[in-house]
Amino acid sequence: MGVRQLIATMREFRARTLNLVADLDDQQMIGPRLAIVNPPLWEIGHVAWTQEFWVLRHLRKEKSLIDNGDRLYNSTDIAHDTRWELLLPRRDSTLRYMNEVLDRCVARLESSSELSADEFYFYWLTTFHEGMHAEALAYTRQTLGYPPPHFTKEAPESPIAGGARPGDVEIPGGKFMIGASEEFPFVFDNEKWLHAVQIKPFRIARTPVTNGEFLAFVEAGGYRNSQFWSTDGWDWLETGGAPELEKSFSKFFNKTIDEKSELASLSTRLDHPVYWRREANGRWIQRVFDQYFPLNENMPVVHVNWYEAEAYCNWAGRRLPTEAEWEVAASAEPGASGELSERRRYFPWGDEPPTPQHANLDWRNSGVVEVGAYQGGDSAFGCRQMIGDVWEWTSDEFQAYPGFTVDPYKEYSKPWFGTHKVLRGGCWATSSLLIRNTWRNFYTPDRRDVWAGFRTCAK
Ligand SMILES: [Fe+2]
Repeated sequence: MGVRQLIATMREFRARTLNLVADLDDQQMIGPRLAIVNPPLWEIGHVAWTQEFWVLRHLRKEKSLIDNGDRLYNSTDIAHDTRWELLLPRRDSTLRYMNEVLDRCVARLESSSELSADEFYFYWLTTFHEGMHAEALAYTRQTLGYPPPHFTKEAPESPIAGGARPGDVEIPGGKFMIGASEEFPFVFDNEKWLHAVQIKPFRIARTPVTNGEFLAFVEAGGYRNSQFWSTDGWDWLETGGAPELEKSFSKFFNKTIDEKSELASLSTRLDHPVYWRREANGRWIQRVFDQYFPLNENMPVVHVNWYEAEAYCNWAGRRLPTEAEWEVAASAEPGASGELSERRRYFPWGDEPPTPQHANLDWRNSGVVEVGAYQGGDSAFGCRQMIGDVWEWTSDEFQAYPGFTVDPYKEYSKPWFGTHKVLRGGCWATSSLLIRNTWRNFYTPDRRDVWAGFRTCAK
């Protein structure tokens, strides 16, 4: 990851950020006040402010480019639900500020052939931060029923069919090392460091749970039967996100969506995943951005939260993998006599960085693909699509690894320990520069806006 690659990535990520909002009108750039989205106009300014804060101000000791940036864009200080009330600069001023920050950051790089350790860290920190916000902007476009981003409409680079691949693979137990090793050029604090875990033998599904499998749970009345739900899950189901969504939607909803019936399904008690709808003829359809498509039974179930995943598992007599089990299934190789070998792979298929043959990443295919696709990305034990397509919920709470110390960006991980659940593997809108087997993502268990599904283990 040299200076040239850094500059190219900074420019590519910025172009993507801008592309993600280029077609939005001024009203859409603010959008409704929801706990799970940010006003897009705030979010793009926040991305540039973060870059300015860490690279130009913290590292280069330069003065702030705008007077009130800290009072507008510091996500730690600006309470989430006040972000709609800020006197944000208009779009043209925001874009000028973003350009100015990027140009100054790149100008400093162009005069250097090598980066100090600090430069490397803060430049990549803010670049990856921007990449993660791009994914969040895609969630926002899905949540609010905006059209898909333009650049995802290009022809798929890889086959999207693939069918289903039911069944489990067996992973032997033993000691295994999980977490980031110091060979990784850039690591967030929550992934540090490599440490041993002891794993019992387990069986894990070849693929994430499909729409077809989840449909059986829905049609068996899974959402109406409290025995499958934890207390927290049942509480969420009874009082959950629906009313909040309902209040703010009507004003902003894209009119190509059948607004009334989506609102109706939101205001009544949920009995299926949030974007599913059963038509009068009994056929199921699913909203992707601003359009409905027939539910494809071989695609992974997405936009289900941790509680829904847990309830499905209870109904199916299965369980979610632990975070460590997930990482072992993705990284381990069988030894000569079937035991866990000590060798760890960076990716399920080996150590080679992701290509379009390995995984559905980098906004490819305009969304998720069937779970049997991407054979080239299989793990040594035969799990498919562990990287890419959909984030996968694990059973674990997000917690510090042994010996954790906080990095300079103090609010990245530590405030969220104990309240969030861990997800692994990345989704179709995740950058391939960012994801690997050891990467830990984390969301609260009620979040359905993420392209997240799950894989199950035998009990
Ligand atoms: Fe941020």
